[in-house]
Amino acid sequence: MKIGIPKEIKNNENRVGMTPAGVLELSKLGHEIFVQSSAGESSGFDDEDYYVAGAKILPTIDRVYDQSDMIIKVKEPIQQEYELIKEDQVIFTYFHFASNQQLTEAMMERKAVCVAYETVEESDGTLPLLTPMSEVAGRMAIQQGAKYLEKPVKGKGLLLGGVPGVPPGKVLVLGAGTVGVQAAKMAAGLGAQVTVLDVNMNKLRYINDIMPSHVVTEFSNEYNIRKHIRTSDLIVGGVLIAGAKSPKLITRDMLKQMQRGAVIVDVAVDQGGCAETTRPTTHEDPAYIIDDVVHYCVTNMPGAVPHTSTIALTNVTLPYVLKLAENGWEKACEDDMALAKGLNIVNGKIVCKPILEAFDWNNAFV
Ligand SMILES: NC(=O)c1ccc[n+]([C@@H]2O[C@H](COP(=O)([O-])OP(=O)(O)OC[C@H]3O[C@@H](n4cnc5c(N)ncnc54)[C@H](O)[C@@H]3O)[C@@H](O)[C@H]2O)c1
Repeated sequence: MKIGIPKEIKNNENRVGMTPAGVLELSKLGHEIFVQSSAGESSGFDDEDYYVAGAKILPTIDRVYDQSDMIIKVKEPIQQEYELIKEDQVIFTYFHFASNQQLTEAMMERKAVCVAYETVEESDGTLPLLTPMSEVAGRMAIQQGAKYLEKPVKGKGLLLGGVPGVPPGKVLVLGAGTVGVQAAKMAAGLGAQVTVLDVNMNKLRYINDIMPSHVVTEFSNEYNIRKHIRTSDLIVGGVLIAGAKSPKLITRDMLKQMQRGAVIVDVAVDQGGCAETTRPTTHEDPAYIIDDVVHYCVTNMPGAVPHTSTIALTNVTLPYVLKLAENGWEKACEDDMALAKGLNIVNGKIVCKPILEAFDWNNAFV
């Protein structure tokens, strides 16, 4: 199959759809890979790396789309890319159609086969192509939180790990899912005192089993949240209720009870955030202060570490890319139910119910 890896052109997107390691696996099987010149540069991969792995380097995005049967990307196509997409071309990327009607209509019009990373779903309900980005964001939450606790960026002036004779900081992690586990692990590694809250007892049992004894678990309810926010130096928001907005666990009035210079890293900002005072921020201007509490609410945290994120993403997308390339999308989706759930638009028709529901469209579109 002819497979294209274009350079991402969405603002501030530094990841790329595939690493040279992924290209090597595909080219060994005889597939032809077209990589746009400098596509991997921001992720730390040169054209030379792709060339050595077996790719042909093309100078323009137009040529990559034009010569490929399948495009592997990271972010949804933006308006400039719509007209490059051809009928029956497979586009494998994050789409998030339900939040973008213009994109949905454009992809229907182009009659592309849209396979969305975010809806590829295993039989146990897990979303394998979202997990690595939550892992990155969870680990980054502590890195960023520790930085924003520093005085020059208006934090409390506290070293999270403490030093001999000075106690470490206290970290409260809301949610014991992928983000929460990784955040707790990083905070524990720095020596902080960590409390993890969740409403799912099995998640708390897991944390309790695997983490060191300075990571403690408690059930998530208003009483416990109010108790902990008074003494916490860093709070990480990692809650998720699938398909819904995040519950507002930290209300505006609670900020007044927090310590001056405490930090909230609300990773769940992309679902509205779990603090009432959360609003989306960018890597250019990541943090703001309300009631002396620093809020870090960047919606695409993995974008700041594109080298790690690109490798983590290719690790999980490659098995599906190989199936699509070897068998074509129809047979690949017939054989693999998880991949089939990734099909969102085929031949101008939406084949994923939640997208129809999101726009209140009736079945006439299906
Ligand atoms: N900002 C970013 O760059 C970025 C990156 C990756 C993920 N995210 C977001 O982070 C959030 C968490 O993702 P995840 O992969 O860890 O989800 P997950 O499903 O693995 O975990 C969510 C956890 O929240 C728990 N939860 C639900 N209601 C709760 C409550 N009231 N109190 C405490 N816990 C509660 C669930 O039981 C679950 O364990 C999502 O909103 C996701 O979109 C953001």
